[in-house]
Amino acid sequence: MPTELKEQASKSTMHPTKIDLSEKSRAKVIELLNANLASAIDLHCQAKQAHWNVKGPQFIALHELFDTVATVVEGGIDVIAERAVILGGTAQGTVQTVGKRSALKPYPTDIAKGSDHVEALASALAVYGKSVRAAIDTATEAGDADTADLFTGISREIDKHLWFVEAHSQAKS
Ligand SMILES: [Fe+2]
Repeated sequence: MPTELKEQASKSTMHPTKIDLSEKSRAKVIELLNANLASAIDLHCQAKQAHWNVKGPQFIALHELFDTVATVVEGGIDVIAERAVILGGTAQGTVQTVGKRSALKPYPTDIAKGSDHVEALASALAVYGKSVRAAIDTATEAGDADTADLFTGISREIDKHLWFVEAHSQAKS
């Protein structure tokens, strides 16, 4: 992580809580949650970007599917952010933080064809999906089965929606 972000993470207020997870464990998981929160917020914006700008013969199917993806990702954003706060942390969801911390590549702003948006959004879903799957193990190792379960639920939804998007490019029409 860049120094600037490490400083920001360490400056984040940890609030006292009677929850029965150690401060060390909570600090690690809060960091994990905030890293994935940034990518999730970015992915939500990317799905909306695709929803608004897609064109071509599959317009209505892709327009509606990309909005569904945005809605599904948005549901994950709220539970990730709130879990960080439940653990005594501070959710880091500002646009500025997201811009610095997201693991996703910037979404292309010069594409219109359905197949190009399918490729771009499938790639973004795959990057986020990989990060969430890794987070299941990290949360488990930190002794937080609830956060591992939270990421497991998100992982299952992201895999499913990667399929929905990717299926458009898996056979010739
Ligand atoms: Fe819309």
